[in-house]
Amino acid sequence: MSKHILILAGSPRKNGNSAALCREFARGAEESGHRVELIFLRDKKIGYCLACYHCKSGGVCAIKDDMAEILDAMNVADVIVMASPVYFYSVDAQMKALIDRAVAQWLTIKNKEFYYIMTAAEDTDTVMDCTLECFRGFARCLEGSRERGVIYGKGVYAPGEILDKPAMREAYAMGREA
Ligand SMILES: Cc1cc2nc3c(=O)[nH]c(=O)nc-3n(C[C@H](O)[C@H](O)[C@H](O)COP(=O)(O)O)c2cc1C
Repeated sequence: MSKHILILAGSPRKNGNSAALCREFARGAEESGHRVELIFLRDKKIGYCLACYHCKSGGVCAIKDDMAEILDAMNVADVIVMASPVYFYSVDAQMKALIDRAVAQWLTIKNKEFYYIMTAAEDTDTVMDCTLECFRGFARCLEGSRERGVIYGKGVYAPGEILDKPAMREAYAMGREA
């Protein structure tokens, strides 16, 4: 079955390590016949949630920016891939802004399959614990979420260092099997 796969690439580096993993995932998924939409958050205007709860009736956010189109994409996707570098043991600010703004429609983004892609300079899995927990905490708030896979792009600092790491093959394989 062909799926609609939405990849949310959170890094401010468009040609960085997590972006490379996102592209490999997309390549595998497209080869398997899935429809892939890859959004780089750095290209989008996503303001911070104001906690005004304007969204409480009707799910429409008071802030008029690119988050509306991202929420549309999240609602229609079968699969959501969330990617972020580890920034001080958390997700980066772009990804956190997106997660918070999803409060406008967190009740309608249901029954999604999730994959998580992370990159970090340290070469351990535990460096990603908090980042992974941010993603999982978000998915736990959404009805019917299912976690399908996690990519640990560890031991990479400068852009491109990921290219000869096993995580690249894992991302491609996960995309193929999505
Ligand atoms: C603000 C900032 C905070 C970072 N914090 C961490 C960290 O806590 N642990 C770590 O291992 N690497 C940290 N890094 C390094 C990045 O995670 C690493 O360079 C990663 O490869 C960036 O991924 P990207 O190319 O996809 O942006 C940090 C980098 C920046 C710019």
